[in-house]
Amino acid sequence: MVAKSLEVRPLAETFGAEVVGVTLSRDMDADVFNEIKALWLRYEVLLFRDQQIEKEDLIEFSRRIGPLEIHLREEWLNKTHPELLQITNIRENGKPTGALADGEVGWHFDQIYLPKPAIASLLYSVKIPPAGGGTHFADMTAAYARLPRHLKDVVDGRTAIQSYVAFNRMYSTDTNAKQKNLTPDIVHPLVRTHPYSGRRALYVCPGMTIKINGLPEDESRSVLDELFAWTAREEFIYRHDWRVSDAILWDNACTMHRRDDFDGEHERLMLRTTILPQPDRAIPF
Ligand SMILES: [Fe+2]
Repeated sequence: MVAKSLEVRPLAETFGAEVVGVTLSRDMDADVFNEIKALWLRYEVLLFRDQQIEKEDLIEFSRRIGPLEIHLREEWLNKTHPELLQITNIRENGKPTGALADGEVGWHFDQIYLPKPAIASLLYSVKIPPAGGGTHFADMTAAYARLPRHLKDVVDGRTAIQSYVAFNRMYSTDTNAKQKNLTPDIVHPLVRTHPYSGRRALYVCPGMTIKINGLPEDESRSVLDELFAWTAREEFIYRHDWRVSDAILWDNACTMHRRDDFDGEHERLMLRTTILPQPDRAIPF
């Protein structure tokens, strides 16, 4: 029997879709799951509203996309479900119980600083402030497809240096010695070929990309600034204003994201899974 197609509402000009009337339960039908996976590859960012689900649902649904990673910031993992990274300003003994507690967070790809970065993230909102804290996504497939010729000529075939240290300095806190060993600066292609869809996308972000290899420092800086301005253009962006029980599944190979500031007097709690590609589909794709 062929499953009834899911209702989809596009979110932005080039990418993003809300999937209506589906619950991300751990026992989702294979037909429905396969359709969601195809939609994820096509739209890059999928929104699911009103998800009355448990931690196990988030985890088991995510595991069907790919193997889950236990995030290296172990101080911010959920105590009972380490597959979930907490992103929160809720504090215990004065210390945040999650990552990225306060304020604005700049454009980045999750895990671009690792040798084998996550292919997807699923973020679920538990508590949100009354205003602010929205998440912006940028479609790096469209940004590459529409890239001016002179920039395409520079980025094609090149690599860049990605730095978690640079990101933490601006938006987070320092890693411990063990975590530092796992996250030296790293080189990745500046343009990725998506491991599942085959589409090409820019793999560069203001939060972590510090240098284009093979260019003098000043030229690298000016090309990066041009790329950052280009990818932040309105035509490539979807801005999401969270409601409680929203879940967003995004593609980490071809979208980057950032967070707006919000009033720290209000609690914010998000839970995230970190989803890896199949081992033979990891970078350099
Ligand atoms: Fe992120």
